Amino acid sequence: MTRIERLLAQMTLAEKLGQMTMTTSDSAVTGPVMSPLSQAAIRSGETGNLLNLFGPEKARRIQKIAVEESRLGIPLLLAFDVIHGHRTIFPIPLAEAGLFDPVAWEMTAREAALDAAADGINMTFAPMLDVARDPRWGRITEGPGESAFVGAAIARAKTRGFQTARLSDGIAACAKHYCAYGAVTAGREYAPTDLSDLTLRQVYLPPFAAAVEAGVASVMPAFTDLNGVPMTAHAGLLRQTLRGEMGFDGVIVSDYTAIVELINHGVASDLAEAAALALKAGVDIDMMSGAYARGLPEALERGLARMDDIDAAVTRVLTLKERLGLFDNPYRGGGEDRETLARRRALARNVAARSLVLLKNERNALPLSRGRLAVIGPLAVAASDMRGSWPGAGPPDDPVTVLAGLRAAWTGEIVTAPGTGITGDDTSGIAAAAALCDQADMILLCLGEAAAMSGEAASRVHLGLPGRQQMLADAVFDRAGGKPVIVILFSGRPLAVPELVERADAVIAAWFPGSEAGNALADILTGARSPSGRTAVTWPRAVGQIPIFHDQRPGGRPFNAKDHYTSKYLDAPNTPLFPFGHGLTYGDFRLSGLRVSPADPAAGSALDIRVDVVNRGRWTAEETLFLFTRQKRADVTTPVLELKGFGKIALEAGASGVLTLPLPQGLNPGPADIFVGPSADPAGLISQTILVHEA
Ligand code: NOJ
Repeated sequence: MTRIERLLAQMTLAEKLGQMTMTTSDSAVTGPVMSPLSQAAIRSGETGNLLNLFGPEKARRIQKIAVEESRLGIPLLLAFDVIHGHRTIFPIPLAEAGLFDPVAWEMTAREAALDAAADGINMTFAPMLDVARDPRWGRITEGPGESAFVGAAIARAKTRGFQTARLSDGIAACAKHYCAYGAVTAGREYAPTDLSDLTLRQVYLPPFAAAVEAGVASVMPAFTDLNGVPMTAHAGLLRQTLRGEMGFDGVIVSDYTAIVELINHGVASDLAEAAALALKAGVDIDMMSGAYARGLPEALERGLARMDDIDAAVTRVLTLKERLGLFDNPYRGGGEDRETLARRRALARNVAARSLVLLKNERNALPLSRGRLAVIGPLAVAASDMRGSWPGAGPPDDPVTVLAGLRAAWTGEIVTAPGTGITGDDTSGIAAAAALCDQADMILLCLGEAAAMSGEAASRVHLGLPGRQQMLADAVFDRAGGKPVIVILFSGRPLAVPELVERADAVIAAWFPGSEAGNALADILTGARSPSGRTAVTWPRAVGQIPIFHDQRPGGRPFNAKDHYTSKYLDAPNTPLFPFGHGLTYGDFRLSGLRVSPADPAAGSALDIRVDVVNRGRWTAEETLFLFTRQKRADVTTPVLELKGFGKIALEAGASGVLTLPLPQGLNPGPADIFVGPSADPAGLISQTILVHEA
């Protein structure tokens, strides 16, 4: 008998349901780790898993109760949303996606895992893998952006990073939110989703399949329904697709109160039914509904649930605890040395700098030339907002502000004023702030959203600047008198700000860069390093264009300016404000000589695509190139551009090199176009048509 079989044989029903229950802890307070009532539930075995408790001492004390005072001594799973860092905060996931660098993606997850593990945590609810094409949806900030290909690459990197080669060396990852949460109707949080099977399989499932392949320890179903079936009760997608087809054998943990919400969805009439539905679908852990503990005993009596399913769920939970090494060493955490902290902080600065996207740069506005600088706007002095959504355990006042970063790096004079708040109607400071333009040689406008305007339950219908910031921007543009105005735009999503972009000389999409925000921005602004970040999501000109993304399928009447009856709007172009992949550098890269050659099949790719790259600019910089394909003919329509790869090449001024992009298998026989370029903008792509033969 294995340890787990032995335990299972000894467990009462209540103890089994305890292992299938996760409750939150009242950990924010100092003093007792949890209320006496909650401690009693751990002692009695009715709570087997906790979320939101961290701190090595607290973790140790609560774990001790489970291990030493409960009847079977089963250790607790201690979980927390370690999304983009724990105490040290890396850029928001959408920003980090724009690095297009799997090594960096893995490194930040690894550092976050070490950071969290030192704080007693052994499981995170990440990576968030919801492909999203609707920036109204606030949770676009947490995910990989609009590409399934990128989502899958991030899934692999993050799973490896959090979990490491041996789970007991890392923390358990959780791929969420399975699936299609990003397709919520009209971008409204928690709204239903309705999708074709084709889109589900091509767009929303691949990142999860990749996470499973990489060995992700757990999966969380989305709050939403898909085509009428709530994901928490979706036996087809959980049992058949996820467990059956993809081969996932880890733990499925419900989202927060999602099981009891099956009653609101209208598919269960009481707690017993809700619990039975979730169990039947394959959900192992009930987060915060209390539905398993309170509903399953009755469901068993009514014949709605089966003991076999309960035993299977408990076995999976105990197996995860065993794989994490918790039975042998339940006490995680402890101090980290200074070098570790410094290394993590340096990584945060590096990754933040690389996540900044130079959207526009005219009249050589950037990097900044010497002179007096006016730093205007409410985001210049914002610290806590720099963390973005899911700030983990990162202290609110810890992030380096833009102003502090510049003051440390800039030798020239700085004059500054916020001008207005991030939100609110106060316009009283605008005139004085705009007047600072007279005392400066160049103006830096720090504008955008507050961190709380993206993330969970933070959908927006207006994607412009909040509060009175547009008024501030206009006042500054009017007053600048030809001096360069550089806009730094903070946001958890693409914003639809065509006029702002039009009037600015340079624009940087800073997203929310994390703990090292100000230093990272100073690195780019001063020219200490060239920008290299790209946008992992298309920026719309207007909310009415949403959803807008690079891999749309072609229609029968593609847009043609000469013909009225073609696919278009009467009042806006079809083209985005910025395409997927867009991002400038301080270099000036030119591409030529695309060639296609058979690759070494052992390397896992079918073809190697090579291009010549030259940096004609005056700065050393790193260019990112994307590989797209288009199938010329297939039985169902295929996207006009399908992302198949990306790569980077760093070149000094005047230097040239060759970038090789491996093209994996997956093209159907027949003619296909191969494209390479710096973004999904068709104007910048070079191409070649190839004929794919039957295998
Ligand atoms: C709700 C969110 O949807 C999910 O992403 C998160 O992991 C849980 N709350 C736990 O905080």
